[in-house]
Amino acid sequence: MRDIAIKLSTVRMLLPGLNAVFPPGSALSPAQAREARLRRATPPSAEPPPPKVITVRMAKGGVGKTTLVGNLGAALAMMGHKILLIDGDPQASLTLLMGLDPWAEGFSHIGELMHRAYRREPARLDDAVVPVWPDGHLDIIPADLSLTAADHWMMGAVSREYAFARLLRENAGFFARYDAVLVDTAPATSLLTNALMMASPEALAVAMLDGSSVKAMEVLEANIDEINAAIPGLDMGFHVVANGWHGSYASYRKSLESLLRIYPGRINSTVLPWSAAFKRQIDPDDPLCSGTVMEREPSSDSAQAVAELARSLASRYAILLGGTVPSPLDFDSQAEAGEAA
Ligand SMILES: Nc1ncnc2c1ncn2[C@@H]1O[C@H](COP(=O)(O)OP(=O)(O)OP(=O)(O)O)[C@@H](O)[C@H]1O
Ligand SMILES: [Mg+2]
Repeated sequence: MRDIAIKLSTVRMLLPGLNAVFPPGSALSPAQAREARLRRATPPSAEPPPPKVITVRMAKGGVGKTTLVGNLGAALAMMGHKILLIDGDPQASLTLLMGLDPWAEGFSHIGELMHRAYRREPARLDDAVVPVWPDGHLDIIPADLSLTAADHWMMGAVSREYAFARLLRENAGFFARYDAVLVDTAPATSLLTNALMMASPEALAVAMLDGSSVKAMEVLEANIDEINAAIPGLDMGFHVVANGWHGSYASYRKSLESLLRIYPGRINSTVLPWSAAFKRQIDPDDPLCSGTVMEREPSSDSAQAVAELARSLASRYAILLGGTVPSPLDFDSQAEAGEAA
């Protein structure tokens, strides 16, 4: 488990309302942030709802999916949320980013867990989860290369589109520990990525602001349309995070303008900047010293942008604290719903 000392001051950046409760200058852990927010939120009237699932997708590699999942997970955990990350990519970049070694350890990845649920065997989720931060604030179900085999068994499986949704449903007690489940995916469309998307009413797309962003969005949109057409009653949508903004290049502006024109109301108003800080977060020469920008460089522009995005997405996806209803005093109410015009 990681030493999270570096992150504590960042909590204030994420939750400016905390300054009214705790004197500025005092350090706050994710658990303390959660407790402070829970004190102000309205208690749930019924059973806690299932955790929100956000599946991060794009029909292109290297656009920043893993970067977003890792940083968003860290930011939401700093806000006091309990977050489960799922590495749904055999490349295991999220596993690496979280400081685990995908070559050395024998993980029970999400494909295996879904297969157990499909065969009506106990999923044994507790054995598969690896804590990244203490107290269940940031856990991960890691991946390794053997996740590529998931499509083999899914090929012959009835209702394979629902394989992930079934795992969630049949292990509702386990997943209720978390406020949100964030899923990283591989770029190519596969049975696995389709099943991972199906558990969420709205996929979260990442569009890198280079020349290929519009084309990649069109491919992803066609993939979502196809799923919706194949499954009666399904109306999966998508919301887009634009990544890699570099204001001084005209081509970046053109990419953003095209996305805003083609997908009005779907692009989040927070655009992640192009920055060396993101580049540094996965160090190929030092895989066990990885870490998100939120942890490593919390005062960077990149971390500030991720914090703003996390507040906006917590509001958009209604990520609550253990089933509580936000009160007017809760810090979530300060979040922007945030969509660019
Ligand atoms: N805003 C950014 N500024 C600078 N570098 C970035 C930014 N976003 C991502 N990167 C870098 O780009 C590379 C690809 O990012 P990442 O691995 O998150 O993409 P991905 O979409 O998950 O790729 P893949 O499809 O291969 O899984 C990484 O080196 C990452 O650090
Ligand atoms: Mg990735």
